[in-house]
Amino acid sequence: SGATGSEAKSSAMGSLLIDGIGELTTHGPQGTLTGAALVIVDGRVAWVGPSEAAPAADRRIDAAGRAVIPGFVDSHAHLVFAGDRAAEFAARMAGEPYTGGGIRTTVAATRAASDDALRANVGRLVAEARRQGTTTVEVKSGYGLTSKEESRALRIAGEFTTETTYLGAHVVPEGVPADEYVRLVCGPMLSAARPYARWIDVFCERGAFDPDQAREILRAGLAAGLGTRIHANQLGPGEGVRVAVESDAASADHCTHLSPADIDALAGSGTVATLLPGAEFSTRSPYPDARALLDAGATVALATDCNPGSSYTSSMPFCIALAVREMRMTPAEALWAATAGGARALRRDDIGHLDVGARADLSIVDAPSHVHLAYRPGVPLIHQVIQGGEPI
Ligand code: NIG
Ligand code: FE
Repeated sequence: SGATGSEAKSSAMGSLLIDGIGELTTHGPQGTLTGAALVIVDGRVAWVGPSEAAPAADRRIDAAGRAVIPGFVDSHAHLVFAGDRAAEFAARMAGEPYTGGGIRTTVAATRAASDDALRANVGRLVAEARRQGTTTVEVKSGYGLTSKEESRALRIAGEFTTETTYLGAHVVPEGVPADEYVRLVCGPMLSAARPYARWIDVFCERGAFDPDQAREILRAGLAAGLGTRIHANQLGPGEGVRVAVESDAASADHCTHLSPADIDALAGSGTVATLLPGAEFSTRSPYPDARALLDAGATVALATDCNPGSSYTSSMPFCIALAVREMRMTPAEALWAATAGGARALRRDDIGHLDVGARADLSIVDAPSHVHLAYRPGVPLIHQVIQGGEPI
Protein backbone atom coordinates (compact mmCIF):
# COMPACT_ATOMS: atom_id res chain seq x y z
CA SER A 1 0.00 0.00 0.00
CA GLY A 2 1.15 3.54 -0.73
CA ALA A 3 2.45 6.10 1.74
CA THR A 4 -0.17 7.99 3.69
CA GLY A 5 -0.24 11.76 3.44
CA SER A 6 1.59 12.22 6.71
CA GLU A 7 4.30 9.66 5.85
CA ALA A 8 4.88 11.38 2.54
CA LYS A 9 5.17 14.72 4.34
CA SER A 10 7.53 13.39 7.01
CA SER A 11 9.87 11.75 4.52
CA ALA A 12 10.03 15.12 2.77
CA MET A 13 10.88 16.78 6.12
CA GLY A 14 13.40 14.07 7.09
CA SER A 15 15.00 13.88 10.49
CA LEU A 16 16.45 16.85 12.34
CA LEU A 17 19.25 16.72 14.92
CA ILE A 18 19.78 19.54 17.42
CA ASP A 19 23.08 19.04 19.22
CA GLY A 20 25.41 21.10 21.38
CA ILE A 21 22.52 21.95 23.74
CA GLY A 22 23.95 23.62 26.86
CA GLU A 23 20.89 22.82 28.97
CA LEU A 24 17.92 20.74 27.83
CA THR A 25 14.76 20.90 29.96
CA THR A 26 12.63 17.85 29.19
CA HIS A 27 10.11 18.02 32.09
CA GLY A 28 10.12 14.23 31.90
CA PRO A 29 11.95 11.27 33.41
CA GLN A 30 15.24 12.44 31.88
CA GLY A 31 14.93 15.74 33.73
CA THR A 32 17.39 18.48 32.77
CA LEU A 33 20.42 17.42 30.72
CA THR A 34 23.61 19.34 29.99
CA GLY A 35 25.67 18.76 26.83
CA ALA A 36 22.60 17.24 25.22
CA ALA A 37 21.12 16.53 21.82
CA LEU A 38 17.65 15.79 20.53
CA VAL A 39 16.46 14.16 17.32
CA ILE A 40 13.11 14.93 15.68
CA VAL A 41 11.39 12.54 13.26
CA ASP A 42 7.87 12.97 11.88
CA GLY A 43 7.34 16.13 13.94
CA ARG A 44 7.93 14.23 17.18
CA VAL A 45 10.85 13.92 19.57
CA ALA A 46 12.48 10.60 18.60
CA TRP A 47 15.68 10.59 20.66
CA VAL A 48 17.13 12.54 23.63
CA GLY A 49 20.59 12.01 25.12
CA PRO A 50 24.20 13.14 25.39
CA SER A 51 25.39 15.21 22.45
CA GLU A 52 28.37 12.94 21.73
CA ALA A 53 26.11 9.88 21.45
CA ALA A 54 23.58 11.47 19.08
CA PRO A 55 22.67 9.55 15.93
CA ALA A 56 23.08 11.17 12.52
CA ALA A 57 20.11 12.91 10.88
CA ASP A 58 19.22 14.49 7.55
CA ARG A 59 19.56 18.01 8.95
CA ARG A 60 21.46 19.43 11.91
CA ILE A 61 21.23 22.55 14.06
CA ASP A 62 24.16 23.30 16.37
CA ALA A 63 22.70 24.93 19.49
CA ALA A 64 26.25 26.12 20.38
CA GLY A 65 25.74 25.79 24.13
CA ARG A 66 22.35 27.48 24.24
CA ALA A 67 19.45 26.22 26.36
CA VAL A 68 16.51 24.34 24.81
CA ILE A 69 13.07 24.47 26.43
CA PRO A 70 9.63 23.09 25.51
CA GLY A 71 7.50 25.53 23.51
CA PHE A 72 5.34 27.76 25.70
CA VAL A 73 1.70 26.74 26.06
CA ASP A 74 -0.34 29.91 26.49
CA SER A 75 -3.57 28.42 27.80
CA HIS A 76 -5.53 31.68 28.20
CA ALA A 77 -5.77 34.44 25.59
CA HIS A 78 -8.53 36.66 24.19
CA LEU A 79 -7.20 37.34 20.69
CA VAL A 80 -10.32 37.91 18.59
CA PHE A 81 -10.94 41.64 18.96
CA ALA A 82 -10.55 44.94 17.16
CA GLY A 83 -9.13 48.23 18.40
CA ASP A 84 -7.26 48.84 21.62
CA ARG A 85 -7.81 50.54 24.98
CA ALA A 86 -4.58 52.45 25.44
CA ALA A 87 -6.43 55.45 26.88
CA GLU A 88 -8.08 53.19 29.49
CA PHE A 89 -4.63 51.86 30.43
CA ALA A 90 -3.19 55.36 30.75
CA ALA A 91 -6.13 56.42 32.94
CA ARG A 92 -5.61 53.36 35.12
CA MET A 93 -1.94 54.16 35.59
CA ALA A 94 -3.12 57.60 36.73
CA GLY A 95 -5.29 55.99 39.40
CA GLU A 96 -8.52 54.72 37.80
CA PRO A 97 -9.52 51.20 38.92
CA TYR A 98 -10.04 48.25 36.51
CA THR A 99 -13.66 47.09 36.55
CA GLY A 100 -14.08 45.11 33.34
CA GLY A 101 -16.43 47.85 32.11
CA GLY A 102 -14.18 48.48 29.11
CA ILE A 103 -15.10 45.05 27.70
CA ARG A 104 -18.14 46.73 26.12
CA THR A 105 -15.89 49.18 24.25
CA THR A 106 -14.07 46.26 22.65
CA VAL A 107 -17.38 44.50 21.89
CA ALA A 108 -18.52 47.52 19.86
CA ALA A 109 -15.21 47.71 17.95
CA THR A 110 -15.17 43.95 17.31
CA ARG A 111 -18.74 43.84 15.98
CA ALA A 112 -17.87 46.67 13.58
CA ALA A 113 -14.77 44.89 12.20
CA SER A 114 -14.71 42.75 9.06
CA ASP A 115 -13.71 39.08 9.13
CA ASP A 116 -10.46 40.00 7.42
CA ALA A 117 -9.65 42.69 9.98
CA LEU A 118 -10.24 40.26 12.86
CA ARG A 119 -8.25 37.54 11.12
CA ALA A 120 -5.34 39.93 10.56
CA ASN A 121 -5.33 40.93 14.22
CA VAL A 122 -5.36 37.32 15.47
CA GLY A 123 -2.61 36.47 12.97
CA ARG A 124 -0.49 39.39 14.13
CA LEU A 125 -0.80 38.38 17.79
CA VAL A 126 -0.18 34.67 17.14
CA ALA A 127 2.96 35.57 15.15
CA GLU A 128 4.09 37.94 17.91
CA ALA A 129 3.60 35.21 20.52
CA ARG A 130 5.41 32.64 18.37
CA ARG A 131 8.47 34.88 18.05
CA GLN A 132 8.54 34.81 21.85
CA GLY A 133 8.45 31.02 22.03
CA THR A 134 4.73 30.22 22.19
CA THR A 135 3.90 27.12 20.15
CA THR A 136 0.35 26.50 21.43
CA VAL A 137 -2.17 29.21 22.20
CA GLU A 138 -5.73 28.96 23.43
CA VAL A 139 -8.02 31.61 21.88
CA LYS A 140 -11.33 32.74 23.39
CA SER A 141 -14.31 34.47 21.89
CA GLY A 142 -16.20 36.87 24.15
CA TYR A 143 -16.21 40.22 22.36
CA GLY A 144 -19.21 39.39 20.16
CA LEU A 145 -21.98 38.50 22.62
CA THR A 146 -24.53 37.52 19.96
CA SER A 147 -24.92 34.08 18.37
CA LYS A 148 -23.67 35.34 15.04
CA GLU A 149 -20.72 37.27 16.46
CA GLU A 150 -19.57 34.57 18.89
CA SER A 151 -19.63 31.88 16.21
CA ARG A 152 -17.79 34.22 13.82
CA ALA A 153 -15.08 34.84 16.44
CA LEU A 154 -14.65 31.10 17.06
CA ARG A 155 -14.56 30.29 13.37
CA ILE A 156 -11.72 32.79 12.92
CA ALA A 157 -9.95 31.55 16.08
CA GLY A 158 -10.13 28.02 14.64
CA GLU A 159 -8.05 29.12 11.65
CA PHE A 160 -5.13 29.56 14.09
CA THR A 161 -5.54 26.98 16.86
CA THR A 162 -7.44 23.85 17.84
CA GLU A 163 -7.71 25.25 21.39
CA THR A 164 -10.77 27.45 20.88
CA THR A 165 -12.93 28.60 23.78
CA TYR A 166 -16.51 29.84 23.70
CA LEU A 167 -16.80 32.80 26.11
CA GLY A 168 -20.26 34.09 25.25
CA ALA A 169 -20.56 34.48 29.04
CA HIS A 170 -17.99 37.28 29.21
CA VAL A 171 -20.40 40.06 30.27
CA VAL A 172 -24.12 40.67 29.82
CA PRO A 173 -24.47 42.99 26.81
CA GLU A 174 -26.03 46.39 27.32
CA GLY A 175 -29.83 46.41 27.27
CA VAL A 176 -30.34 42.63 27.62
CA PRO A 177 -31.87 41.23 30.85
CA ALA A 178 -29.37 38.91 32.55
CA ASP A 179 -31.57 35.80 32.75
CA GLU A 180 -32.57 36.17 29.12
CA TYR A 181 -28.89 36.42 28.16
CA VAL A 182 -27.97 33.31 30.20
CA ARG A 183 -30.69 31.38 28.35
CA LEU A 184 -29.25 32.57 25.04
CA VAL A 185 -25.69 31.60 26.06
CA CYS A 186 -26.86 28.12 27.10
CA GLY A 187 -29.12 27.63 24.09
CA PRO A 188 -28.96 29.11 20.59
CA MET A 189 -25.59 30.82 21.06
CA LEU A 190 -24.04 27.57 22.32
CA SER A 191 -25.42 25.72 19.28
CA ALA A 192 -23.93 28.35 16.95
CA ALA A 193 -20.55 28.27 18.74
CA ARG A 194 -20.36 24.50 19.22
CA PRO A 195 -18.95 23.49 15.81
CA TYR A 196 -15.93 25.77 16.30
CA ALA A 197 -15.25 25.38 20.04
CA ARG A 198 -13.39 22.86 22.17
CA TRP A 199 -13.98 24.62 25.51
CA ILE A 200 -16.56 26.75 27.30
CA ASP A 201 -15.57 29.50 29.75
CA VAL A 202 -17.49 31.93 31.96
CA PHE A 203 -16.44 35.13 33.72
CA CYS A 204 -17.71 34.38 37.24
CA GLU A 205 -17.39 37.69 39.04
CA ARG A 206 -19.46 40.45 40.62
CA GLY A 207 -20.69 42.51 37.66
CA ALA A 208 -20.46 39.56 35.25
CA PHE A 209 -22.03 36.14 36.04
CA ASP A 210 -22.87 34.86 39.52
CA PRO A 211 -21.96 31.34 40.73
CA ASP A 212 -25.37 29.83 39.92
CA GLN A 213 -25.34 31.30 36.43
CA ALA A 214 -21.77 30.04 35.99
CA ARG A 215 -22.80 26.52 37.05
CA GLU A 216 -25.69 26.56 34.59
CA ILE A 217 -23.47 27.76 31.74
CA LEU A 218 -20.74 25.19 32.38
CA ARG A 219 -23.34 22.41 32.65
CA ALA A 220 -24.81 23.40 29.29
CA GLY A 221 -21.34 23.38 27.72
CA LEU A 222 -20.51 19.97 29.18
CA ALA A 223 -23.80 18.57 27.90
CA ALA A 224 -22.88 19.87 24.42
CA GLY A 225 -19.53 18.07 24.62
CA LEU A 226 -17.26 21.01 25.49
CA GLY A 227 -14.56 20.99 28.16
CA THR A 228 -14.90 23.57 30.92
CA ARG A 229 -12.73 26.40 32.26
CA ILE A 230 -13.60 29.50 34.25
CA HIS A 231 -12.47 33.06 35.02
CA ALA A 232 -12.53 32.85 38.81
CA ASN A 233 -11.67 35.10 41.76
CA GLN A 234 -10.04 37.80 39.62
CA LEU A 235 -11.41 41.05 41.04
CA GLY A 236 -12.45 39.84 44.46
CA PRO A 237 -13.09 36.75 46.60
CA GLY A 238 -16.02 34.57 45.57
CA GLU A 239 -17.26 31.13 44.66
CA GLY A 240 -15.63 30.86 41.22
CA VAL A 241 -12.91 28.45 42.30
CA ARG A 242 -15.47 26.32 44.13
CA VAL A 243 -17.63 26.16 40.99
CA ALA A 244 -14.55 25.15 38.97
CA VAL A 245 -13.54 22.35 41.30
CA GLU A 246 -17.04 20.91 41.75
CA SER A 247 -17.55 20.76 37.98
CA ASP A 248 -14.03 19.30 37.44
CA ALA A 249 -13.12 22.22 35.16
CA ALA A 250 -9.76 21.86 33.42
CA SER A 251 -8.67 25.15 34.94
CA ALA A 252 -9.63 28.01 37.22
CA ASP A 253 -8.05 31.13 35.79
CA HIS A 254 -6.78 34.26 37.56
CA CYS A 255 -7.09 32.96 41.18
CA THR A 256 -6.04 36.38 42.45
CA HIS A 257 -8.24 36.43 45.56
CA LEU A 258 -8.17 32.96 47.16
CA SER A 259 -9.22 31.81 50.62
CA PRO A 260 -7.30 28.99 52.35
CA ALA A 261 -10.31 26.76 51.53
CA ASP A 262 -10.00 27.67 47.82
CA ILE A 263 -6.31 26.72 47.89
CA ASP A 264 -7.08 23.36 49.56
CA ALA A 265 -9.88 22.69 47.07
CA LEU A 266 -7.58 23.34 44.10
CA ALA A 267 -4.79 21.22 45.63
CA GLY A 268 -7.15 18.28 46.05
CA SER A 269 -8.58 18.51 42.54
CA GLY A 270 -7.79 17.91 38.89
CA THR A 271 -8.38 21.61 38.20
CA VAL A 272 -5.27 23.61 37.29
CA ALA A 273 -4.80 27.06 38.87
CA THR A 274 -3.90 29.25 35.89
CA LEU A 275 -2.20 32.44 36.99
CA LEU A 276 -2.15 35.49 34.71
CA PRO A 277 0.35 37.97 36.15
CA GLY A 278 0.15 40.21 33.07
CA ALA A 279 -3.34 41.13 34.29
CA GLU A 280 -2.11 42.10 37.76
CA PHE A 281 0.71 44.09 36.15
CA SER A 282 -1.64 46.00 33.85
CA THR A 283 -4.41 46.54 36.39
CA ARG A 284 -1.96 47.33 39.20
CA SER A 285 -3.44 44.65 41.45
CA PRO A 286 -1.82 42.40 44.02
CA TYR A 287 -0.42 39.21 42.44
CA PRO A 288 -1.92 35.78 43.17
CA ASP A 289 -0.28 33.70 45.89
CA ALA A 290 1.55 31.19 43.70
CA ARG A 291 3.72 30.10 46.62
CA ALA A 292 0.72 29.05 48.73
CA LEU A 293 -0.77 27.14 45.77
CA LEU A 294 2.48 25.32 45.00
CA ASP A 295 3.22 24.55 48.65
CA ALA A 296 -0.29 23.10 49.03
CA GLY A 297 0.32 20.84 46.02
CA ALA A 298 -1.91 22.55 43.44
CA THR A 299 -0.97 22.35 39.75
CA VAL A 300 -0.10 25.84 38.55
CA ALA A 301 -0.07 27.16 34.97
CA LEU A 302 1.08 30.56 33.73
CA ALA A 303 -0.58 32.26 30.76
CA THR A 304 -0.74 35.75 29.25
CA ASP A 305 -4.50 36.55 29.31
CA CYS A 306 -3.60 38.58 26.21
CA ASN A 307 -6.50 41.03 25.62
CA PRO A 308 -6.80 44.76 24.93
CA GLY A 309 -8.13 45.58 28.41
CA SER A 310 -6.53 43.90 31.37
CA SER A 311 -3.32 42.43 29.90
CA TYR A 312 -2.15 43.45 26.45
CA THR A 313 0.94 41.23 26.32
CA SER A 314 1.57 38.14 24.21
CA SER A 315 4.87 37.44 25.95
CA MET A 316 5.23 34.28 28.02
CA PRO A 317 8.82 35.24 28.99
CA PHE A 318 7.41 38.47 30.49
CA CYS A 319 4.89 36.41 32.51
CA ILE A 320 7.69 34.11 33.69
CA ALA A 321 9.73 37.12 34.82
CA LEU A 322 6.72 38.49 36.76
CA ALA A 323 6.02 35.10 38.32
CA VAL A 324 9.60 34.78 39.52
CA ARG A 325 10.04 38.38 40.71
CA GLU A 326 6.57 39.09 42.09
CA MET A 327 5.08 35.68 42.93
CA ARG A 328 8.06 33.87 44.41
CA MET A 329 8.06 31.05 41.91
CA THR A 330 11.51 29.62 41.15
CA PRO A 331 12.67 29.99 37.53
CA ALA A 332 12.22 26.22 37.10
CA GLU A 333 8.67 26.30 38.54
CA ALA A 334 7.75 29.22 36.31
CA LEU A 335 9.11 27.49 33.20
CA TRP A 336 7.19 24.32 34.11
CA ALA A 337 3.99 26.33 34.67
CA ALA A 338 4.39 28.12 31.30
CA THR A 339 4.80 24.83 29.41
CA ALA A 340 3.71 21.61 31.16
CA GLY A 341 1.28 23.52 33.39
CA GLY A 342 -0.40 25.07 30.36
CA ALA A 343 -0.59 21.63 28.76
CA ARG A 344 -2.35 20.28 31.89
CA ALA A 345 -4.74 23.23 31.78
CA LEU A 346 -5.63 22.18 28.22
CA ARG A 347 -5.66 18.48 29.18
CA ARG A 348 -2.94 17.74 26.64
CA ASP A 349 -0.10 15.27 27.19
CA ASP A 350 1.65 15.70 23.83
CA ILE A 351 3.00 19.21 24.56
CA GLY A 352 4.75 21.06 27.41
CA HIS A 353 7.56 18.50 27.66
CA LEU A 354 10.30 17.05 25.45
CA ASP A 355 10.23 13.34 26.20
CA VAL A 356 10.51 10.88 23.34
CA GLY A 357 7.10 10.84 21.65
CA ALA A 358 6.22 14.45 22.49
CA ARG A 359 5.29 16.90 19.75
CA ALA A 360 8.51 18.62 18.67
CA ASP A 361 7.55 22.11 19.87
CA LEU A 362 10.56 23.82 21.38
CA SER A 363 12.67 26.95 21.58
CA ILE A 364 16.40 27.48 21.48
CA VAL A 365 17.11 30.23 24.01
CA ASP A 366 19.98 32.65 23.43
CA ALA A 367 21.34 31.97 26.92
CA PRO A 368 23.04 29.08 28.69
CA SER A 369 20.07 28.29 30.98
CA HIS A 370 16.33 28.79 31.43
CA VAL A 371 17.07 31.03 34.45
CA HIS A 372 17.92 33.83 32.03
CA LEU A 373 14.25 34.07 30.98
CA ALA A 374 13.53 35.78 34.32
CA TYR A 375 17.04 37.06 35.01
CA ARG A 376 17.06 39.13 31.77
CA PRO A 377 13.51 40.54 31.68
CA GLY A 378 12.43 42.33 28.52
CA VAL A 379 15.29 40.91 26.45
CA PRO A 380 14.25 38.94 23.34
CA LEU A 381 16.05 35.71 24.20
CA ILE A 382 14.11 33.33 21.97
CA HIS A 383 16.71 32.50 19.31
CA GLN A 384 14.81 29.92 17.27
CA VAL A 385 11.38 28.33 17.53
CA ILE A 386 10.61 24.83 16.25
CA GLN A 387 6.93 23.94 15.91
CA GLY A 388 5.79 20.43 15.00
CA GLY A 389 9.40 19.64 14.12
CA GLU A 390 9.82 22.52 11.68
CA PRO A 391 12.04 25.57 12.28
CA ILE A 392 9.90 28.68 11.79
O1 NIG B 1 -9.44 37.92 31.66
N1 NIG B 1 -11.88 39.03 33.13
C1 NIG B 1 -12.45 39.10 32.07
N2 NIG B 1 -11.91 39.16 30.89
C2 NIG B 1 -10.58 39.63 30.59
C3 NIG B 1 -10.52 41.07 30.42
C4 NIG B 1 -11.24 41.50 29.25
C5 NIG B 1 -11.14 42.95 28.95
O2 NIG B 1 -10.89 43.80 29.85
O3 NIG B 1 -11.35 43.25 27.77
C6 NIG B 1 -9.59 39.12 31.61
O4 NIG B 1 -8.94 39.88 32.34
FE1 FE C 1 -9.16 36.32 30.59
